[in-house]
Amino acid sequence: MKKVILKQKHVLGILLKKAASWHFSYYFLKKARPIACGIYVTNRCNLRCQMCNIWRNPQEETIPLASYKKIIDDLKNLGCYYVSLSGGEPLLVSDLDERLIYSKKKIPYLHMVTNGFLLDDAWAKRLAGIGINEVSISLDGLEEKHDAIRGIKGSFTQAWKAIHNLKKYAPKITIVVNSIISPNNISDLYEISRLVRKNNLLHKFQPHNDHPVFDNQKDESAKVRCSREDIEEIKKFIQFILPLDNIVNSRYFLKQIPNYFSRQTKGGIFNEACIFGYHHCEIKEDGTLFPCLTGMDWRNGFALNASIMSIINSERYRRKLKELKKCKLCKNNMYICYFEPRITFPLSHYFKYHFLEKIIP
Ligand SMILES: C[S@@+](CC[C@H](N)C(=O)[O-])C[C@H]1O[C@@H](n2cnc3c(N)ncnc32)[C@H](O)[C@@H]1O
Ligand code: SF4
Ligand code: SF4
Repeated sequence: MKKVILKQKHVLGILLKKAASWHFSYYFLKKARPIACGIYVTNRCNLRCQMCNIWRNPQEETIPLASYKKIIDDLKNLGCYYVSLSGGEPLLVSDLDERLIYSKKKIPYLHMVTNGFLLDDAWAKRLAGIGINEVSISLDGLEEKHDAIRGIKGSFTQAWKAIHNLKKYAPKITIVVNSIISPNNISDLYEISRLVRKNNLLHKFQPHNDHPVFDNQKDESAKVRCSREDIEEIKKFIQFILPLDNIVNSRYFLKQIPNYFSRQTKGGIFNEACIFGYHHCEIKEDGTLFPCLTGMDWRNGFALNASIMSIINSERYRRKLKELKKCKLCKNNMYICYFEPRITFPLSHYFKYHFLEKIIP
């Protein structure tokens, strides 16, 4: 993550101030204070990915524009530094540009993750004008594999077009290529890695996640099963990417991936009490608020019938945060959006898992 942060030096000072005041709130005031928020702005999607269940949900929902703006106002009042827009496919939201413009005025660091299918030259120019800080484009294999995984022919070509459009028309935006690691695509990942480096792009890896929201659990045959050979292949690939200088993941994260696939995640961060919800929050497409979606099984979020600040300070939210301290579900998902923040906050974790990573089992 350090590499992404260093690419955006102009907001580094703000991040340091926000991080300092988060530590004050947590240790002295004993309060949660989200400095980052993931917004699943819609669950509509234009692709049909094998490993994702989001497009299979028959109930399509998008956070209404007015509610979205209120959320951004509330996050600003809370001192939130980072907002990440995901989905579903954010580029399907018809008034997305208005939302991004609004968000960028209030939040220092704005990120979006997209499959890139709709990111044409006009969108690249618009994103440059808005000043979004970072765009992640998902790429899971070479053409044949990527299109098969993503369920729509032409997805690979479109994702690359998106990357080239951003490079040409939005050179200030940090582009990160997101790739899933699974036994299904491991053989293509070497070449993808070379292509990404050849194009001077950052690269982020996410091991395949078995959670029902992502994985098509109804179809047992689609579930990821790892043989010993698969795990050896994954280990080899991790050794290949560990020394590369364009990798966004921390070394500690990468080194845990083979353990995750062989169901042997133990010790280290997996044993720490989870305080993710004290520094992050997540908002689902139905407009409900969560300290952690996975920790609450993506259900029974907090209705936004009051300001986010008053909900977070409510007795019920505080109780949920205490309960989630005992949650161990990160062992089963290794979701980068949880794992990396957890090894970065609080600062003691940063020293332990980034600087002392070599001596931690
Ligand atoms: C849910 S998608 C939403 C944004 C956009 N539709 C896209 O595909 O980039 C966000 C990220 O989750 C990843 N993802 C989807 N299913 C996954 C799974 N089963 N395990 C791990 N990551 C997954 C995608 O590859 C993408 O990088
Ligand atoms: S991974 Fe992204 S593109 Fe694929 S179905 Fe899920 S939300 Fe859509
Ligand atoms: S352990 Fe992981 S899944 Fe559970 S609450 Fe913490 S971040 Fe969420």
